[in-house]
Amino acid sequence: MVIKSLGHACYTAGDGRSALLFDPFLEGNPEAVVGPDEVQATAILPSHGHSDHLGDAIPIALRLGVPIIAPYELAMYCQRHGAQVLPLHIGGGVDLAWGRVKLTDATHGSAIVGDQMIEYTGPACGFLVAMSGQTLYFAGDTGLFGDMRLIGEAGIDVAILPIGDHFTMGIEDAVRAVEFLQPKAVIPTHYSAFEPIRKDPNLFAARVSAMGVRCVVLSPGEEATF
Ligand code: NI
Ligand code: MN
Repeated sequence: MVIKSLGHACYTAGDGRSALLFDPFLEGNPEAVVGPDEVQATAILPSHGHSDHLGDAIPIALRLGVPIIAPYELAMYCQRHGAQVLPLHIGGGVDLAWGRVKLTDATHGSAIVGDQMIEYTGPACGFLVAMSGQTLYFAGDTGLFGDMRLIGEAGIDVAILPIGDHFTMGIEDAVRAVEFLQPKAVIPTHYSAFEPIRKDPNLFAARVSAMGVRCVVLSPGEEATF
């Protein structure tokens, strides 16, 4: 499985045939390495409705004719705006041609925050993905929670975990998350696009490496194979 950072919390995970696009915030993302008019994907997985995650999911889905896989309420929002959707909910998964995706808990909000009103879009989620013999845990925006131990029982090859603090886990809690999840490798995310969440991923990498876990710091545009 090849995982590529497109900037902030946006990643692709692919097996050469299918490409999952997570949290496609590209327009207005100071780190974006590709525009919403060029990015390619076979499915789009927004973890919640916040603008730095749902981002350009709907226009990308419309342009490519690919489904948005999301918690039910967020999926219905996307469907109302014309997108093809595959609604799931926390704890539920689905087998697809390329593998399996299951929604996990995330301790975070989820809403479309407009000028005039805030539209609730269900709970925020994480994604547990099985593809080409690898298991990926994309945590989304979340605080630390004890049931990461339970998620870890899936046997995680690579975990993408937020470390930026302020809106999600900071480095200390993300280190504890690695203890709970016991992944073979971890990619830190959500730490540099905006001033309040600016953190040094190498501090996290040093802590995690000391635990014997491979830490892969991906700058926007970089990719790694797992
Ligand atoms: Ni958020
Ligand atoms: Mn966020």
